[in-house]
Order: sequence, then C-alpha cells, then structure tokens
Amino acid sequence: MGQTLSHKIIKNHLLSGTPAPGESIGLRMDQTLTQDATGTMACLQWEAIGLETVQTELSVNYVDHNTIQMGFRNPDDHRYLKSVAERYGMIFSPAGTGICHQLHLENFARPGKTLIGSDSHTPTAGGVGSLAIGAGGLSVALAMAGEPYTLPMPRIIGIHLDNALTGWASAKDVILALLGQLSVKGGVGAIMEYTGPGVASLTVPERATITNMGAELGATTSLFPSDEQTRRFLRAMHREADFEPLQADEDAVYDELITLDLARIEPMAACPHMPDKVVPVAELDGLAVNQVAIGSCTNSSYSDLKAAALLLQGRQRHEDTDLLIAPGSKQVLKMLTREGLLDAFLDSGGRLLECACGPCIGMGGSPSSGGVSVRTFNRNFEGRSGTQDGQIYLTSPLVAAQAALDGRFTDPATWGPAPTKPELPADVPDIKNLFLYPPQDRSKVEVQRGPNIVPLPPFEPLPETLAVPVVLKVGDNITTDHILPGGPQVTALRSNIPAISEYIYSRVDPEFVTRAKDAGQGIIVGGENYGQGSSREHAALAPRYLGIRAVVAKSFARIHRANLVNFGIVPLTFTNPADYDALEQGTRLTIPAATLRAGGTISLSSAEGVSIDVSNDLTEEELAVIRAGGKLNAVRHTIED
Ligand code: F3S
Repeated sequence: MGQTLSHKIIKNHLLSGTPAPGESIGLRMDQTLTQDATGTMACLQWEAIGLETVQTELSVNYVDHNTIQMGFRNPDDHRYLKSVAERYGMIFSPAGTGICHQLHLENFARPGKTLIGSDSHTPTAGGVGSLAIGAGGLSVALAMAGEPYTLPMPRIIGIHLDNALTGWASAKDVILALLGQLSVKGGVGAIMEYTGPGVASLTVPERATITNMGAELGATTSLFPSDEQTRRFLRAMHREADFEPLQADEDAVYDELITLDLARIEPMAACPHMPDKVVPVAELDGLAVNQVAIGSCTNSSYSDLKAAALLLQGRQRHEDTDLLIAPGSKQVLKMLTREGLLDAFLDSGGRLLECACGPCIGMGGSPSSGGVSVRTFNRNFEGRSGTQDGQIYLTSPLVAAQAALDGRFTDPATWGPAPTKPELPADVPDIKNLFLYPPQDRSKVEVQRGPNIVPLPPFEPLPETLAVPVVLKVGDNITTDHILPGGPQVTALRSNIPAISEYIYSRVDPEFVTRAKDAGQGIIVGGENYGQGSSREHAALAPRYLGIRAVVAKSFARIHRANLVNFGIVPLTFTNPADYDALEQGTRLTIPAATLRAGGTISLSSAEGVSIDVSNDLTEEELAVIRAGGKLNAVRHTIED
C-alpha cells in the first residue's frame, strides 16, 4: 500500500510509537521557531530546563508581535530574547525584519524537515513540504532540548485539487472555501495533505496561504508536496541546495479524501466573527467598508502585495476607507520598493506599516466603533482587532484592494478582466544578513533581564482529591482571545505571569479574576471547541496561576488542550454533553483525582446532589505530567533522575 507524504516524513522522524491514527507518537523536531509574544515564556522555560546549547538543527527567535516600543517592557523582552539566542545558540530576528512565518518560509523552511513553533500558524512552512506544527512554548522549549514532540497520530485527510484557479479567485479563496465546507473543527486531529493535478498550478506563496489557514480548520498541520514550484521558490530565495523532491506515492491511501475543483473557486469572504462564516463576495455587494488592511502571515508575500499594488496603481482609495499595508518581510518591502510598487500603495492613499503582525494582533490599526474592516488576515474573532464591536471580514488581497477602491464590497462580476498572477523575480534580494547569528564563543554572553522578565511560578502536583467550585461557565467556541485578550497592554506582559493573569477572561467577565483568587482553586466549564485559536500557552498558564485545576468542556481545541496538560490542568469532557446544563457557576464539585485513569471516566459530585460522568482522552504520559503539576516539573524530575 502506498504511503502519504505525511507518513513518509513522520516515519523519518519517529522516535516512539506506531503511526496508526490515535496512537501516541514521538517525533524528532529538526527546527524550532518562536515569536516574542510566546517566545519570552518559551525561553524562560528553556532556561529552566538547564541545558547549554539548543539540540536542534536550527532554532530561530523572531520578534514580530509586540514591536511597538512604548515604555520599557517590550524593549526589555526583545533584549532578553536576543541575549538568550546569543547565549544558547539560536538565530535572532530583530523587530521590523518581518513576520515569523513569512521569514521562516523565505529563509529557513526545508522540504522533509520537521518544525515546531510557538505560534499556531507555524504550518505555513508546509507550503514547501515541511511538516510544521504549532504548539505551546513549553513544547517548543522541550524540542530545543532534544525531547521528542508527542502527539496522537493524526488522520491524514487528502485534499485532491483538480484544474487551476481562474479569474479573480486566489489561494485565499481556496482555504476560505474549505473552511466554509468543513468548519473550524473540520481539521481537528488531522493533517490536511494536498495532492492531485491542481497542486502544480499553485506557487509556494499560494500554498503557504493555504497551509497557514489550515490552522483555522483546527488541523494539526497542512502539507504540500515539494516539486518544481518548490525548487523555483527556493532558487529565488538563494536556497536551491535545500530543495528535495517529495511527494506521496501514486497509490497512497488517505483516511479521507476531499476533492476540490480549483476552476470553480470564486472570491470569498469570512464574515464576522468566525473564519468559517464564509460567503461569496458577490453576496456582500453594497456593504460599506471603513478600513482595509493588507498583510499578516497569511497574505503578505511579494506576490500578494504586488497583486494588490498593481490593482491600486494610478488609482485612489475611496476617501472613507482607510488603507493599511504591512509587508511580511523586509525582503518583500525591498522588492516592492525596487519595482516602484510602494509608490502605488502610497499614491493611492495607503498607509505603510512596519513589517510585523501589527493590526492582526491588535497592535494599532484598530477599526472605528462598529466599523467594517476588510483584512487579508486569518482570524476575525470578536474583539481581536482591538475594537470590541469591529466587524472584520477576511478576504484575499485582490478583494481587499478592490474594496479600498470602491469603499464597499462589490460584485466581482463587475470588476472586468482579472490581472495575471505575479511571479517571483529571479534576483530576489538576500536578507539573511539581517538575522543575528550566535557567536563562536558563547560562554561569556550574559542573559539580560529587565523588571518585566519574571521567573516562572512553581506549581504544586495534583492532589488526590479536589473539592473546588465552578468559577466560570462559558459557551461554545471560546477562543484564546476570549481567555486572554491580545493588544499592546496585555501582550507586553507575556513574560510576567502574575501581572498578565489579571487579564484572564477580563473581556468576558471582569469579576473572574477576583472570584478565582477568592476561591483559591477552581474549575471552568466550557462548551464545544474550548480554547480554539492561537497557541498562546498563557491562556492555560495564567489560569493555572489563578488556581484553575480542571476544565470540563464538551470538546477542546488541540493546542489549548495540550497547553492545559502542560501546565497541570485536567481537561475533562462531558460523557453526556447534556450534563453541561447541570453545572452552574458556584457549584462546588468533588473530583476524585486519584482515580483518574488514562482514557477513563470518573464521576464529579456536589453536596447538592449533582453527579455527572466526565471522560478524558489523556495518554499515560499526559496523566503523569498532570499528576506532577505540569510538564516542566515532570521533565525536571526526568533530568534530575
Ligand atoms: Fe502574527 Fe497574526 Fe500571523 S499575529 S503570526 S500575523 S496570525
């Protein structure tokens, strides 16, 4: 029986387990990636492990999220990250160089390699055939220490692409169409592996847009083969030596196969406030647009920005529509400048932002109250833009640029002939000299800490019995943005757990923190898909600091579930989802933690007579981590033993 490409890469990196769906497997990670918002904590965790040198082939510390330097906190974090990189043998990418995923794709991602990153859009590197997985910072710190990354073997979903895109349709519309079809849960527990004759028609930046937003499907990762398109891209990036042809066997068998006809894809938009609320752009005809933002790790490549620039060239944005442009990297910016395309943006009335995440993480560029913002980004969760009632639509760069010109959504059928797809030039500027590489002798490098760098709080092991109240009950599709908001004020505190914990659930329930502190310990009750969204481990770490010992939900998002385990919080699911209604805020429950068994069921009971069964899907190893009070405690024991 033929093998999928995912199986081939997994088998090449398998350190433990059998790659059968659901079985626990341990993978060797060749590369790691951290960004500053999660990276300071990952580096504190790395330091706590106590090794002298990273054990990976390559580890890169990027600064792209908290680039605004107002006050000492962010600059202190950047200085800390730079010094940790120098001290322990990592590469450092300073603020302004670009967005981690765009930079990694251009400079470091390699076909057939494994990559783990403390950012949920790490699968962007799947665009060149790298098996790239987003995870919490602790998992990345452990990978830097040479520990295997363990996960349940995903199902492999084949996405068979036929034909090629036509007209105004672009790669963004492919992934939006899949989101509309499969929903934000459609990829949970799966690798989305792209195959079929349509693959060859997609360039690497287009593939990377698709793999990037596989994160919104909830997928473990997404993967394209490595072929002539990959060779062309790597050659343009001065890295042809990194090319290796890779593809699934002709007779590969997938756990599920979905066929998509690229020729039938039309321009789409994801409507507020979920990436899977997808409609054809034609259905939004006439809706006024207050702001357009082009950029983010999804759509900030040279080809994306050039396509938008050519549409805007010689024309003016609508006077009521702000236009923001954030190139994905300095390389992209240099290419646009060289070709005079920056002028196209500026002369059309656009505003140039730094090569960074910017508005995507609420770092400036928030829309006005109730304003409609059309963004080429990947997430449109409520409040993520920094404006609680902002109405965020996700589209391709072409749709966004057209909306900036018209001041409203219009029907693509009225736009005339579609532009041709921009190709990468042969002589792309090489920006590798912008990265800081570790010195030969690292022994004298001192790690620099400011007052915002606060050591990790210690956590107690799980007691035999927990008698704790429900301190919060929430509904379905709670995102990590709900749990811990983004924005400059909060993200500047990512290396300071006591301070950042004050913001947990602050936008959902301002009394939560006080209630949790008063209770000392507690549990949270959630609905379906609890913790979807980003990889931010602070959404588990800070609740743990506030005394949360268990979350009982109808279902969990993958990365958040793993983060809960990593910090010693027990993820439990209702055996009967209707029991969700039996639990209220304030219900005091007894959890017989000593009787927890991997994959087993226990009963939670209250003095008022509530008794409900809850299940877990923990492995033996995960249960041991929770009993130890978190992964860092468990690993420290292993190293000390
Ligand atoms: Fe940055 Fe937004 Fe991507 S925060 S890493 S551009 S999802």
